[in-house]
Amino acid sequence: MIWEDIDTHAKEWVKEAGDRIRLSFEKTLNIETKSNPNDLVTNIDKEIEQFFIHKIRSVYPDHKIMGEEGFGDELKSPEGVVWLIDPIDGTMNFIHQQRNFAVSIGVYENGIGQIGLIYDVVHDELYHAIRGKGAFLNGKPIPALKETTVKESIIALNATWVMENHRIDHNLMIPLVRDARGTRSYGTAALEMVFVATGRVDAYLSMRLSPWDFAAGAVIVEELGGIVTNIKGEKLDFLSKDSLLTANPGLHQEIINEYLKVGQ
Ligand code: IPD
Ligand code: CA
Ligand code: CA
Repeated sequence: MIWEDIDTHAKEWVKEAGDRIRLSFEKTLNIETKSNPNDLVTNIDKEIEQFFIHKIRSVYPDHKIMGEEGFGDELKSPEGVVWLIDPIDGTMNFIHQQRNFAVSIGVYENGIGQIGLIYDVVHDELYHAIRGKGAFLNGKPIPALKETTVKESIIALNATWVMENHRIDHNLMIPLVRDARGTRSYGTAALEMVFVATGRVDAYLSMRLSPWDFAAGAVIVEELGGIVTNIKGEKLDFLSKDSLLTANPGLHQEIINEYLKVGQ
């Protein structure tokens, strides 16, 4: 597989998608709800996903596509080349703030991430990695991750997980939030993952995400020596929803062993 060729196309399409999203700021959005009143989708999320699918199918007809808005294929196995697309990650921010959202594209082969692209449209910042070739921000190499401890870390997480919830005992989360130097919540898993990649935050955790939320970010973070697992420390399969913990190796281990203690 010639990943550089796929990567060149993917970059071009991501930038074009960004232009389309920027133009949409001038227009009225058509907003609908999905699984609950706070689960939002707009005509732009759908149009951008269809834009990518049209481009991918025209150049790579044998590739498979998993897109959040459901215009791709129904995948039962990770075999072959699979594009995992979140046309707008952070739709609520897109609607309410016109910032703090990103386009996220992961390209996997047989379940292994090969390319990750996350485009922060408003800042025109493209985070990008090809497995084994390093990770870049607008073409500039991103330095490898540095080790940190909880006490000197900023941890990105959603406040939901520190309230009583049915995914984790929130009593485990309280000491983590208390001991960390600070916490942040940006509402976009893709950007929170590249914030880990660039050291703007030291860890990101969530109790429930979909493959298109973390597929691209995982390639970028792992390329910099970071660890990407579920909160039990297990590998993700990139076909199923799962929890997520991503951080530099020492911090990842400390959070799992000293705080989350899931299953112990
Ligand atoms: C959401 C964002 C959010 C995360 C949600 C995701 P969407 O993606 O990444 O930060 O907490 O779980 O669903 O719906 O805006 O693409
Ligand atoms: Ca998402
Ligand atoms: Ca989305």
